[in-house]
Amino acid sequence: MRVITTVQEMQSACRALRLAGKSLGLVPTMGALHEGHLSLVTASKAACDATAATIFVNPTQFGPNEDLAKYPRTFEADRAMLEEAGVDLLFAPTAAEMYPAGAATWVEVEEVGGRLDGASRPGHLRGVATVVAKLFHIAAPSHAFFGQKDAAQLAVLRRMVRDLNFDLKIVGCATVREADGLAMSSRNRYLSAEERRQALALVRALRAAADLVANGENSSAKLIEMMREAMDDERAARIDYLAVVDPDTLEAIPSVERGGMLAIAAWIGATRLIDNLLLKDQSKSVVK
Ligand code: PAJ
Repeated sequence: MRVITTVQEMQSACRALRLAGKSLGLVPTMGALHEGHLSLVTASKAACDATAATIFVNPTQFGPNEDLAKYPRTFEADRAMLEEAGVDLLFAPTAAEMYPAGAATWVEVEEVGGRLDGASRPGHLRGVATVVAKLFHIAAPSHAFFGQKDAAQLAVLRRMVRDLNFDLKIVGCATVREADGLAMSSRNRYLSAEERRQALALVRALRAAADLVANGENSSAKLIEMMREAMDDERAARIDYLAVVDPDTLEAIPSVERGGMLAIAAWIGATRLIDNLLLKDQSKSVVK
């Protein structure tokens, strides 16, 4: 695995691969890697001739009171995991390399970018869209892999690729969970043993609502009520949002009869966690 730290070297390495006729999968990350990240590498290796991963803790997607300074940085372990997973190129630039003095251009995905996490964390999805657009220009991949776990991010990036005509395919990958259901996240490292237990409230709430759907309930209001009740059982969890939305537009929908997404964000102590579940189009599973 070749480790690259400059934009120019990454551009020429990726260009060489594409000129050799190879498809190139890009897996952007902020490091502190876990099995969720590695599942994206596996998907890229299955679909593409070459795989490039990036590790960059992107300052522009953190708000002023967020966890940029304390975000876990575990570069040596990450490098070893990516090498073991068979990544070809690892791009790990500094902040000054990515944002030279005077950088003034932003990618703002309106509407979709202001919903769910975009509403709770102003500027967050603008920072994500901007850095991912830059990574797309630098690597010019044929495919790019993102986790369903960050559903608002995935929706914003799909819209950006469509609106700005990036010539690549975005591949959404299923959320990888711990054995007890907790969605894997770099931020789980912040949790104490007690908080780790409390964090299960999110997946429990999602699964309680999904069980209602399996039993024929379609009303989003009822599903939200169920998620709220389930969250209330864990007194230490503080809800940021509970929503039932269209996974592409992130707009609230009144019914999940034609499918939808259950989404949740909550604070467990000082740590903000998110999770979601996609629901199938019920009308398609009915045998006529
Ligand atoms: P990061 O949080 O490191 O996540 C990198 C990628 O891994 C994202 O696509 C995310 O959705 C995916 N991922 C995280 N946890 C996952 C899980 N449990 N199962 C499956 N996939 C999972 O998301 C970011 O970094 C940044 O915003 C980034 C896109 C790199 C831009 O800075």
